[in-house]
Amino acid sequence: MSDVLSETDDFDSTASDAVIASLAEHGFAVVDRLFDPALIQALAGELGSMESAGAMASAGVGRATGLRRDGDIRRAAIRWFDGGTEAERRFLAVAEQLRIAINRRLFLGLFDFECNFIAYPTGGFYNRHLDSLAGTRNRVVSLVAYLDEGWHADYGGALRLWSGPEDDGAPAAEIVPQAGRVVLMMSEEIPHEVLPSHRPRHAIAGWWRVNASSGQRLDTSR
Ligand code: OGA
Ligand code: MN
Repeated sequence: MSDVLSETDDFDSTASDAVIASLAEHGFAVVDRLFDPALIQALAGELGSMESAGAMASAGVGRATGLRRDGDIRRAAIRWFDGGTEAERRFLAVAEQLRIAINRRLFLGLFDFECNFIAYPTGGFYNRHLDSLAGTRNRVVSLVAYLDEGWHADYGGALRLWSGPEDDGAPAAEIVPQAGRVVLMMSEEIPHEVLPSHRPRHAIAGWWRVNASSGQRLDTSR
C-alpha cells in the first residue's frame, strides 16, 4: 500500500480515523487500542524507574510566569520526553502519524508535539483547566495516554471533561484511566480535571502545537 499511514507497524489507522472523527464531532475522543500494549508497558516501566531514581520534577502550571509549584491547582510530578529511549521514540512516531492524520482530515495545521510523563502520588489531582495557555494559540490538540494496568474506578483519579469552556454543568464524560486508554481533546475548548487519586497514577500528556511564530505573534512560550 502506498498510504504512509500503513508504514508504521505501531499505528492503527482504522482506530485513528474513528478517533479523529469523534474529536471533530465532540471536541474530544476516547480510544483504547491506539498504542501497542507492549509499548504502553515499556513506557510505564520507564516512568517507574524515573520515579525510583528521583528524576521527576514537581509540576507547575504556566510558563510565561515561570513554574509555580502550585499544589492548589495540581499535585503531580512530571518529566519531559527527550526521545532518549526506544519506547519514547516509538511513542513519538505514533504521535507524528496522528499529527499527519489529524491535519489531513481536520486541516488544523498542527506543527509539532511536546509531551511529558506525569505521575500523580496518592492524593494527587489536577483541578479543572484548559490546556491552551492564556493569550496564545499554542496548544491545539491534547493527548493523554494512561499507563496503569488493572485500574479500577474506585481507585479514583478519573478524568472529567466538559464540552466547552462555559459548560459547568454535569461533565460530558468521566474516563477511568486504564492502561492503554487514550484521550484526545481540543486544547482550547475542553475543560478537564483529574479527580483525587487514591493510588499512584501514571500517564503521558502531550500537545500538538501550531507554529505561532509564523503568524503575527512571536512565539515566546518556549
Ligand atoms: C494535563 C492533564 C490529565 C490526566 O497534564 O494537562 O490534563 O488525566 N492530564 O492526567
Ligand atoms: Mn490538561
